[in-house]
Amino acid sequence: MKIYAHRGYSGMYPENTMLAFREAEKTGCDGIELDVQLTKDGIVVVVHDESLDRVSDKTGFVRDYTYEELKEVNVAYTWGGKYGFQPIPTFEEYCRWVKNTNLTTNIELKTGVFYYEEIEEKTLNLVRKYGLEKRVLFSSFNHLSLVKMQSLEPQIPVAALLEHRGLGNAGFYCHEYGFQFYHPGIKGLNQKTVDNCKKQGIAVNVWTINAMDELEHIYEWGCDGAITNYPSIVKAWLDSKNK
Ligand code: G3P
Ligand code: CA
Repeated sequence: MKIYAHRGYSGMYPENTMLAFREAEKTGCDGIELDVQLTKDGIVVVVHDESLDRVSDKTGFVRDYTYEELKEVNVAYTWGGKYGFQPIPTFEEYCRWVKNTNLTTNIELKTGVFYYEEIEEKTLNLVRKYGLEKRVLFSSFNHLSLVKMQSLEPQIPVAALLEHRGLGNAGFYCHEYGFQFYHPGIKGLNQKTVDNCKKQGIAVNVWTINAMDELEHIYEWGCDGAITNYPSIVKAWLDSKNK
């Protein structure tokens, strides 16, 4: 089973920062999950919420800031000074770093609240610029973004993201639309749905696995990946299982 560090090593470090990504890599995980959005001037940046309010010292929407303005935002603000100033990375900065690692990147296109014009093209151009085509997969809660990405680049796999209720016949659904992965929330997942995916050749990566009983369940069900805030714990557990 593969391990994806959710927003980097976000259980211990400020989410979606280069610090969290570098620390994730040190754990020996297989990949990183991150979220992309666009600034006012169309730069692809790595940040989870559409608004800056939850994690930073500023307020308002990412899409209302230019990148120059966004550079001043501290997304380690809620960590009480422990990690100093941590900026929102550009996706290009991330690509420049990750190309020299062995990591796979699950790029979540955050197009479910605001539909950012041309985010698919801009993100794909950067993936191509850094030669990462064979080491990425795209996911989104907005499945139209996946359909668009597939039309732009059919060789890169895509993942249907679902909230916790999920889809009972997810395998059939993903197969029907040509999605290679199913990414459900753990709460509504069960063996039957995993089997339905396996039958159709659809791989299943589950989020967000931060409890041991959930990890045991998805391992027993035969899931392909765990998306977790604690990659070091999942790695240690899997290593002990595989001994
Ligand atoms: O990709 C899995 C997970 O990240 C989806 O939910 O809200 O953490 O982006 P969220
Ligand atoms: Ca995400």
